Amino acid sequence: MGNSITVKDVEAGYGSVRVLHGVSLTVNDGETVVMLGSNGNGKSTLIKCITGLVEPSAGEITAEINGESINLIGKTPEEIVDLGIAMVPEGRRLFPALTVEENLTLGAYRPEARAKIDENMKFVFETFPRLEERRKQLAGSMSGGEQQMVAVARALMSDPKILLVDEPSVGLAPILVSQMIAKIKELKDIKNLTVLMAEQNFNQAIKIADRGYIIVHGQIEFEGEDTAALENNDMIKQYYLGV
Ligand SMILES: Nc1ncnc2c1ncn2[C@@H]1O[C@H](COP(=O)(O)OP(=O)(O)O)[C@@H](O)[C@H]1O
Ligand SMILES: [Mg+2]
Repeated sequence: MGNSITVKDVEAGYGSVRVLHGVSLTVNDGETVVMLGSNGNGKSTLIKCITGLVEPSAGEITAEINGESINLIGKTPEEIVDLGIAMVPEGRRLFPALTVEENLTLGAYRPEARAKIDENMKFVFETFPRLEERRKQLAGSMSGGEQQMVAVARALMSDPKILLVDEPSVGLAPILVSQMIAKIKELKDIKNLTVLMAEQNFNQAIKIADRGYIIVHGQIEFEGEDTAALENNDMIKQYYLGV
């Protein structure tokens, strides 16, 4: 009963500006796949295509949910969450004037998740004890690291099978980046998630990735079948490893 994502030849953009030029990528059941690329190369656009926030002008996006193949193109973001595909957006996108608890509750609007709200709230508070301590605090008054915890926890409240994480390391101090990356791995293992993560922080991302892609100007420049293949890539050496 697998949960996977297949993106095939996707073209997408904003108005007349094309951003993705024939992107193909897969995330197999239980994998953690990283999409590496510096700013403006289309990582978020691809994640938004998968989650129904941007409609591709061409190509196919399918998900396999509990072994059933489902076409995601044309589905609304709500329908896609309903299928069990959750996103942790770039920049957290919390409701700053709502409490931590209220933000988390908003993550549980899909029917299946609503029924499990107590169980999932308990789980995310076990995972992020800080959030339980701060449950009544306004999300906007939390530190960057805590806000990222809320964003991940909110995604988990929808009880997903597939988790899309858009640059979890952005704006966090190095120690917090390490903790957040380790947390994503821990959650993936506990919940048997299939994970696609967009990242610029190569060294952190490969700690938990099984394999990955490099996206440049809206095209997949390189597909690394494991982290060693990524580490040996010239582009990675040049831009991320300073070799
Ligand atoms: N809402 C938008 N409207 C117009 N252009 C956008 C929008 N969002 C992103 N872009 C453009 O699309 C390109 C890719 O952006 P994005 O997908 O956010 O890249 P990344 O996540 O890799 O930084 C950039 O040139 C960016 O300026
Ligand atoms: Mg982005």
